[in-house]
Amino acid sequence: MNWLITGGCGFIGRALIARLLDEGAQAVRVLDNLSVGSRADLAQVTDFTEMGDRAGNDNWPDGVTLLEGDILDTQAVTQAVSGADIVVHLAANTGVGPSVEDPMGDCRTNVVGTLNMLEACRHAGTKRFVFASSGAPLGVQTPPLHEEMAPHPASPYGASKLAGEGYCSAYYHCFGVETVVLRFGNVYGEGSGHKQSVVAKFTKQALSGERLEIYGDGTQTRDFIHISDLIDAVIRAATKPGVGGETFQIATAQETTVSEMTKALLAVMKDEGLTEPETYFGPMRDGDVMRNFSDTSKAREKLEWVSQVSLEDGLRRTIRYFVAADTV
Ligand SMILES: NC(=O)c1ccc[n+]([C@@H]2O[C@H](COP(=O)([O-])OP(=O)(O)OC[C@H]3O[C@@H](n4cnc5c(N)ncnc54)[C@H](O)[C@@H]3O)[C@@H](O)[C@H]2O)c1
Repeated sequence: MNWLITGGCGFIGRALIARLLDEGAQAVRVLDNLSVGSRADLAQVTDFTEMGDRAGNDNWPDGVTLLEGDILDTQAVTQAVSGADIVVHLAANTGVGPSVEDPMGDCRTNVVGTLNMLEACRHAGTKRFVFASSGAPLGVQTPPLHEEMAPHPASPYGASKLAGEGYCSAYYHCFGVETVVLRFGNVYGEGSGHKQSVVAKFTKQALSGERLEIYGDGTQTRDFIHISDLIDAVIRAATKPGVGGETFQIATAQETTVSEMTKALLAVMKDEGLTEPETYFGPMRDGDVMRNFSDTSKAREKLEWVSQVSLEDGLRRTIRYFVAADTV
């Protein structure tokens, strides 16, 4: 199988590549514009070669090959997709905050960029296309979130991911590209040093001795999923027969308040002999939803997948990683 990972230099992409190599994958191609992830980041998980302009598109050498390029550049996208059996599309404008600051840019990357990828896949005859979505398309809802809810995005990010989901559905039904949409919960874990999501941010701040700002009163809830569980789900979605055209909530099905997560983080820090930081409450952010956790029964049934890593264990692994990597 030839795997193309867009955004492969990022947090989730690198973890996926590391796992694929562990499991014996032969050829992995990365398309990344290096706006967030870098060559040095990719080099932390694997050796790789560069895919030059004149490299044959269908030449998939063993190991990992990096094509520096943008998903808005149709030439680069066509080159990257050529010969791929499986595309995992992770490259995106990630997160609510940047989308509120620049809704047009968010739309270009997440809507037009995703459409470029799908269009290249249909012409290349790519078998499977896994799309990284999130809970954001569903927006303001009474959880647990599930696949049959009508979406009501509360941020431009939610709207652009919803559009990506829509194109996945259309390309499955019109053109037979086996798209699988995964709505990730709040992913945390090793390799997330550059992320602004709450676990990564708090871990970095805590290890630097900074105070932790909890938005609002800390009662907002999230479904925190450890990266290793998420990667299991991505690989299943990419390889399991009979799931083309489907959407799955990929999370732990546990509703955890930000205050509870913070308490667990501080307890693990104490246990690890680290100094616990102070916490304080600040204003809520625009576009943030108050409650968010998922019903993952469809993934359990059709992907035969459930999350395995407890929050405490996942936080411990994360803290140990940050301490060892000295990413603070
Ligand atoms: N991390 C989470 O908690 C989370 C939750 C829900 C959904 N997701 C989705 O999962 C995917 C991966 O997230 P991540 O946390 O690894 O993000 P990340 O920012 O760590 O990685 C994204 C990578 O995509 C690359 N990229 C960005 N724009 C690009 C473009 N126009 N062309 C080519 N490459 C581009 C960046 O350089 C980066 O290496 C994203 O689609 C994100 O929306 C993540």
